[in-house]
Amino acid sequence: MNKLIRKIIGGASPTDEEVKHLLSVDGEDAAVLHQAAREVCDSVYGKKVFIRGLIEISSYCKNDCLYCGIRRSNRCAERYRLTPDEIVECALYGYSIGFRTFVLQGGEDGYFTDAVVCRVVERIKSSCEGCAVTLSLGERSTDSYAQLRRSGADRYLLRHESADFEHYAKLHPRELTLENRIRCLGDLKSLGFQTGCGFMVGSPHQTLDSIVKDIRFIEELQPEMVGIGPFIPHRDTPFRDSPAGSVSLTLNCLAIVRLILPKVLLPATTALGSLEGGGRERGILAGANVVMPNLSPHDVRRKYSLYDNKLSTGVESVEGLSELRKAIESIGYVMSLERGDHLSVK
Ligand code: 5AD
Repeated sequence: MNKLIRKIIGGASPTDEEVKHLLSVDGEDAAVLHQAAREVCDSVYGKKVFIRGLIEISSYCKNDCLYCGIRRSNRCAERYRLTPDEIVECALYGYSIGFRTFVLQGGEDGYFTDAVVCRVVERIKSSCEGCAVTLSLGERSTDSYAQLRRSGADRYLLRHESADFEHYAKLHPRELTLENRIRCLGDLKSLGFQTGCGFMVGSPHQTLDSIVKDIRFIEELQPEMVGIGPFIPHRDTPFRDSPAGSVSLTLNCLAIVRLILPKVLLPATTALGSLEGGGRERGILAGANVVMPNLSPHDVRRKYSLYDNKLSTGVESVEGLSELRKAIESIGYVMSLERGDHLSVK
C-alpha cells in the first residue's frame, strides 16, 4: 500500500490493476490512502478550503440525461430561470459577504445565448473587482466557448460523466456523445479556461473498469478541477430504483485523483454531503479542498433538483457560512474566501 502510494506521489502512473486495487481498499488501507491524499493536498494548498458561491441560473434543459432530475422529459420538474439582473444581484450579494468566485450553473437552456451569458459575465467581472467567474452551462460550440472566454469567464466545469464509451451511452440519449464531450473539454482547455471534468460514482451500469477509464482520462486531460460525487437516484427519472453510489468508493476516487494531480481543485460535492451526514468533511479529509455553497435565491433552490434530497440549506447554503466555517475548522482546516485559482495560473 505505502509503496504504491509513494510510487504515485513520485510521479509514476499506476497500472490499471493498481488503480482497481486502490478503488477497492477499505478499513486501515483506506485510511492510509485518504491520509496520504490529504497530506499531498496540504503540501500544495496548506490548510485552506476554498469556498465558491454557486448560482443555479436555470432548471430548463434541452437534454434528456437518464440520471438527471431536470432532464427535459421530466414533466414533474418545476422550471425556473433567473433573469440577468437576478444573477448579477446574487453575485453582488455574495461579493458583499466576501465571496470571490461565482459559479454560474444551469441546464442547457436556449435562453442563455452567448450574448446573454457574455453580458452577465461582463457585468459581474466589472462590478466585483478581483473575482473569478466559473461557468457550468454544458456543451456549446467552439465559437461559443471562445466568446465566453473573451467576455472574461475564468473557468468552466463540464463533467465528462464517463470516459467509457459503452457506459456513457447507457447514461445518455443517442444525441449526446462522449466524442462531443471530449471535443468540448479540449476546446475549453485550449481557450485557457481553468477546466473541470468529472463523473458520478456508482451511476447505473458503472464498473470498476469504467472508473479506471475515468482516471486515465483525467491523467490525460490534466484538468485544473475535477468534480466527483456519488450518484443519487431521482424519483422522476428512469434510474429511480437504482441504488445510490457508495460514499467510501467516492472517497477513494477523490484520494486517487488528488495523488495523481496534486494541484487539482477538488470539491467535496453537495451530493457527497447530501448522501451522508459529515460526508463533505470526510471528502476534505480524503483530499478535497473546495466547497460550493448555494447562493441562488431561496424560492428557486428546491427546483434545481438533480437528485432526491439534495441539500441547499444549512452548511450547503450561504446562510450557513458560519456553520460551514465551524465544520471546516472542526477538522483542522480554514475556510478561504480567496479566488483560489489553480496553482498553474499566474
Ligand atoms: N446524482 C448525482 N449527481 C448528479 N448529477 C446529475 N444528476 C445526478 C444524480 N442523479 C451531476 C452530473 C452533472 C452535475 C451538475 O450533477 O454529474 O454533471
